[in-house]
This record gives sequence, structure tokens and C-alpha cells, in this order.
Amino acid sequence: MLRVIAIDGPAASGKSSTAGLVAQQLGWAHLDSGALYRALTLAAVDTLGEGGRRKGEEWPAQRILDLADRLPVRLVLVGAKFRPEVAGADVEEAIRTERVTRYVSVVAAIPEIRTWVNTQQRKAVEGGGGGGGGGRGVVVDGRDIGTVVFPEAPLKIFLTATPDERARRRLSQRGQAVDVELVRRESEALAARDAADSNRRIAPLKPAPDAVLLDTTALTLEEQVMHVVELARQRFPG
Ligand code: CDP
Ligand code: CDP
Repeated sequence: MLRVIAIDGPAASGKSSTAGLVAQQLGWAHLDSGALYRALTLAAVDTLGEGGRRKGEEWPAQRILDLADRLPVRLVLVGAKFRPEVAGADVEEAIRTERVTRYVSVVAAIPEIRTWVNTQQRKAVEGGGGGGGGGRGVVVDGRDIGTVVFPEAPLKIFLTATPDERARRRLSQRGQAVDVELVRRESEALAARDAADSNRRIAPLKPAPDAVLLDTTALTLEEQVMHVVELARQRFPG
């Protein structure tokens, strides 16, 4: 049995925080697939430049993939977490900047990029113990983990929360003031990215038919983690 828990959902719904804590409690590894899309975007913006694409156009997929191999862009298992690396440097912080966030959905909509990222994820899971054989598993979070990357995952969670609540969470995560105007602006930015992710032709953001839907608007992080851990103990006995 594939030892993978898939956690999908819109931006700032709590996927990565939940996945990290669930992995910790189960003694599994955590893979944030968004981090890999962000690392590729960082490499494209830094190396090809924002002018590397004309407005409204994509960067050429092959140039990004050549970069990914050359630099390289990769995921490295450090302790129990797969961390994004570009040219040997940890980019966990650099990939969260506005400059990367602005372009990541454009890069993630390119079919060849998705194929590359999916291959990296499957390799990581095989190496990280998720392939079965009684080793530890991997909690993977993203947008298409339950639908496309690991459709055979025995446990799939789809997290949601209202746009305003997600905007408030993202602002507090960044240490920014949670005032009405900032919440409105952040909420619009999240909605725009969710729309791009939901309306793309390949691997759009949506729950797998057998996903457990979890609205976290009124939950604490601890409550949702406990809920997922309970489901995991039922689905992965022993
Ligand atoms: O943390 P946040 O929810 O803001 O985003 P993320 O998980 O870091 O993902 C960044 C972007 O990568 C998303 O908006 C998607 O465009 C893309 N992504 C994707 O297409 N498929 C995934 N499995 C994960 C991320
Ligand atoms: O990965 P994704 O973009 O879906 O979300 P995240 O990066 O995990 O960010 C969610 C933020 O909301 C984190 O700072 C969490 O501590 C916080 N949060 C949560 O995830 N769930 C709650 N019920 C309350 C707060």
C-alpha cells in the first residue's frame, strides 16, 4: 500500500502547516509540492528575468527545465522535510516573496513543468519511504496530489477556509497587521491565484472524488491536525 497522505486545497488554507505537523506526529516525511513550483519560478525570474516572457505569455518551458537540470533545482530531504534548493542553496525563504508568488501560477500551468515536478515528487516519495515496505510514509501537500500525482493515496484531504480567513492567516504568518484594507487586498490576491489554479486545463485545483473535505474556518490548527492524524491511524493501521 502506498504510504502517502495527500493534502490539497486553495492558497493559505493551512495545507503546509497541517501536513508538517501530521507528518511529525506520525513520524513521516513532509513534501510541499508548491515549494518546487516556487523554486522553479524563482530560478526563472532570477535567471531568465521577468522580461524573459512577454506580458501574458509563458516562459519557454524548455528553458526553465534546462535551468532546473543545470542549476539544479531540487528537493533535498533534511530530517523529515523535503526542502527546495536552487544551485545548492536552500531557498525555503526566498520562494515566499511577492515576486515569486506573482508568477508561480503561470509557471505551474505549463504542462511540461508539471510533468517534471510530478517526476521529482514520485522519486522523492520512493526514496522517502512512501513506496511501502513498512517504512515511514510521506505527507504531500499541493493542488493536484489526490487527483493527479498520487490518485492511489489511501487518504486524501481537501482543506478549505473562507477567503477572508485565509487572507488573515497569510497576513499573520508574515507578521503583517491584520487590518480591514490589507485583508481585502490579500483576499483578492489569493482569489486571483485560486482562479488561475482552478481554471487551468491541466491538473486544476479540485477535490478528488474520494477526498475528505475539511472546512477549517472555525478550527484551530491543532484541531485539524488531530482530525487528520485520527483518519491516518484508521487508514494506515500499524
Ligand atoms: O502556500 P500557497 O498555498 O500560497 O501556495 P503553494 O502551495 O506554495 O503553491 C504555489 C503555487 O504553485 C500555486 O498557486 C499553484 O499555482 C502551484 N501549485 C500547483 O499548481 N500544484 C501543486 N501541487 C502545488 C502548487
Ligand atoms: O500551505 P497553505 O498555503 O495552504 O497554508 P500554510 O502555509 O500552512 O499557512 C496557513 C497559516 O494559517 C499558518 O500560519 C497556520 O498556522 C495558520 N492556521 C491554519 O493553518 N489553520 C488554522 N485552523 C488556523 C491557522
